[in-house]
Amino acid sequence: MKAKAIRIGTHGGPEVITLVEVDVPDPGPDEVRIRQQAIGLNFIDIYYRTGLYSNPLPHGLGFEGAGIVDAVGSNVRFLKEGDRVAYPQGTIGAYSEVRTMPAATVVKLPAKISFEEGAAVMLKGLTVQYLFRQTYRLQGNETILFHAAAGGVGLIACQWAKALGVRLIGTVSSPEKAALAKKHGAWQTIDYSKENFVERVLTLTNGRKLPVVYDGVGKDTWDGSLDCIEPRGLMVSFGNASGAVTGVAVGILAQKGSLFLTRPTLATHIVPRARLEASSEELFDLMLKGKIKVDIEQRYPLAEAARAHADLAARKTVGSTVLVP
Ligand SMILES: NC(=O)c1ccc[n+]([C@@H]2O[C@H](COP(=O)([O-])OP(=O)(O)OC[C@H]3O[C@@H](n4cnc5c(N)ncnc54)[C@H](OP(=O)(O)O)[C@@H]3O)[C@@H](O)[C@H]2O)c1
Repeated sequence: MKAKAIRIGTHGGPEVITLVEVDVPDPGPDEVRIRQQAIGLNFIDIYYRTGLYSNPLPHGLGFEGAGIVDAVGSNVRFLKEGDRVAYPQGTIGAYSEVRTMPAATVVKLPAKISFEEGAAVMLKGLTVQYLFRQTYRLQGNETILFHAAAGGVGLIACQWAKALGVRLIGTVSSPEKAALAKKHGAWQTIDYSKENFVERVLTLTNGRKLPVVYDGVGKDTWDGSLDCIEPRGLMVSFGNASGAVTGVAVGILAQKGSLFLTRPTLATHIVPRARLEASSEELFDLMLKGKIKVDIEQRYPLAEAARAHADLAARKTVGSTVLVP
């Protein structure tokens, strides 16, 4: 079957993104073919485009999507043709009208969750699930710092924290983003483009600092984040929106108070399949109860994926973004 899909032949800026016609194979024994209805845009897609994270070229882009099962491999028992499905992160190549991928990475989408919501929430929402429920299991009543709180992952984190009874301090770069994070349940916001976020955290906690900091911004916030953590607390460095954290001397963790450090990734939290199913169920349950609403604030035609990348990198987007095939 032929379909339109995004390919990159070289690493670089948004201009390396091209829409081409590809052959979509029939599913192998453990695969499904999906007619895609919506595709999630994520910062990780930028890392693969620039080469910060790499895959042999040429390749497609994108990890997150939702659609209708179109064909099923002979070993696949839990999905059938016509099922509404979504996935957070299987093989790279979600930016496509139709795709074939491992069935084990795909879950059924509840009837009340739209394709767009599914495509916008799977990677980002399951990331918040593991950050809040596995990496540091929040119990409620903690105060935490979450960087880029008005972003795709960030607005879900604000709502999840509120649902758990956790006070989330969110950093943002504009008054509009601050208002949005607050509206989604952030306890306090800090505009880190103007204010010293370490000083604000010390004030907000009466000098006590925090048990855990979730940092997806990376290079620009690394040092300050460590200064916000109480002795023996946890630094969760989970992204590189401002650039990768490199050259860290581990002694810094002793100097800052016997801190723990982890650099987790979603990929290791959705295998085996039972983990993916359990986490998805927890996420869908919160969505169906109305505790997490997925804000799709930007939509772009698949053919305009390059423009979507440029806007995400330029901090022009808020909440989730989908590409429409
Ligand atoms: N490890 C994992 O499992 C995992 C999974 C999903 C996502 N992530 C990470 O989580 C972070 C958020 O992902 P997302 O897809 O939801 O993106 P996003 O938060 O919607 O966009 C990134 C945000 O980072 C902030 N930022 C700070 N400095 C920046 C800079 N120099 N350039 C661009 N943005 C900057 C911007 O918010 P302000 O303008 O408010 O500063 C921007 O909107 C990313 O680092 C991503 O890699 C990690």
